[in-house]
Amino acid sequence: MKVCVVGTGYVGLTTGVSLAFLGHDVTCVDLDENKVQTLRAGRSPIYEPHMESLLGEAAERLTFTTDYSEGVPGAEVVFIAVQTPSLPDGNPDLRYLSSAAETVGQHISGEGEFTVVVNKSTVPIGSSNWVDSILREAFERSHGRRADGEFTVASNPEFLREGVAIFDSLYPDRIVVGSDNPRGLDVLHRLYRAVLNQTFTPPTFLPRPGEVGAVPMVSTDLASAELIKYAANAFLATKISFINEVGRLAGKVGADITQVARGIGLDARIGPRFLEPGVGWGGSCFGKDTAALITTAEEYHHDMPIVRAAREVNAQQRSVVVDQLLSELRILKGRKIGLLGLAFKPDTDDLRDSPSVDIARKLISRGARVTLHDPVASDRFRAQHPDLAGQLADSIDEVFDDADAVVLVTKWDQYLDLDWGKFTGIMRKPVLLDGRHCLDAARLERLGYRYLTTAG
Ligand code: UGA
Repeated sequence: MKVCVVGTGYVGLTTGVSLAFLGHDVTCVDLDENKVQTLRAGRSPIYEPHMESLLGEAAERLTFTTDYSEGVPGAEVVFIAVQTPSLPDGNPDLRYLSSAAETVGQHISGEGEFTVVVNKSTVPIGSSNWVDSILREAFERSHGRRADGEFTVASNPEFLREGVAIFDSLYPDRIVVGSDNPRGLDVLHRLYRAVLNQTFTPPTFLPRPGEVGAVPMVSTDLASAELIKYAANAFLATKISFINEVGRLAGKVGADITQVARGIGLDARIGPRFLEPGVGWGGSCFGKDTAALITTAEEYHHDMPIVRAAREVNAQQRSVVVDQLLSELRILKGRKIGLLGLAFKPDTDDLRDSPSVDIARKLISRGARVTLHDPVASDRFRAQHPDLAGQLADSIDEVFDDADAVVLVTKWDQYLDLDWGKFTGIMRKPVLLDGRHCLDAARLERLGYRYLTTAG
């Protein structure tokens, strides 16, 4: 099928490249000329495992352009996957979405073709109707006549996780599509058939896991599809905040929160995933989507106390690190504290709402000297946080050198496999705060560390 994807951020690029890999003819439109040049050269503008390999495999069915007229006319499906950053009041900024919809509306050919315009950005509930009206007006203005069944709007929320985005788009748990027009649902069913039935030949670098069978598709109305996205993210965020709240109590009563998480996660009704305690969630999605859910609810005079609490616990979780260090070191002023990891999670260089950056700033405001390290995100960090660039360490050794404490914030593989024994001798105090509860406490204590976690 001929597909156009507007926006080549995490979601748009992964969608476009995966659909081309599955055999569709895909044109990705982005207004950023530099990004388009990078992609044309077969390079990925974002750090995402397997992205460049898949770009290579799908190259002959992929076009990158800044020009909507190369992608939209004649496309059966047009994805809009532009950013919707949070405004200070918690509402998403829909300017990019509105201008993308406007331009798509102008370029739909209207010559006997039927186009499904898919909202892939996470948008407030009801936005698809709004997109529909923008498309309609733009179409009518540029064609000088009323739109008459040339297009419909659908919602197809994205559930991919950064760092495993390609895996998630080839082997999803489910695909959700919402449209108030059955024809739109049919087109999307056809588009995703190879994923739904798992009939494609997997890439050599991402073989199909044995347990993956047919993928369920949830076909629904527009509003339900939009709410599914928010509810899923809010639930996952709440699950993490829940285990962190219990974790703090575990620290007080002398229980081991990782054992508690295992003990409850083996209950099939609860499940073990997203029960990893630690510094809490970050990234561009959970914070933004939980805030947007609360503001949408407010418009209907509806309160969401569970979602509010999940956000509150998460914010506190970052202060827990500072409090732990304070009670261990007594004084933070002048202390040298190393942070391992800047990205909000491993396998990405994304720093948006990163717990690490927040913790670093909190420590600095208490007078501590921080040393920062990340195996991948340092360049991005330098560009986005120039005032802290001087705190970046050139090597992991530098993080430990003369440190009063080191905090593991991002669970990069490189950190899990460190030769921990060699650092105690170069630290001023061998205090290690495992912000992800992922290291072997007994072993580290044998090596001479004072081992702490966010649960005590
Ligand atoms: C999240 C969702 O998992 C995706 O399904 C969704 O598509 C995406 O948001 C989105 O809305 O675009 P993502 O933000 O990429 O994906 O990352 P996650 O893997 O969900 O991790 C989010 C944060 O939670 C990270 O900071 C991670 O370290 C933290 N986390 C995760 C925990 O603290 N504990 C856990 O058990 C799991």
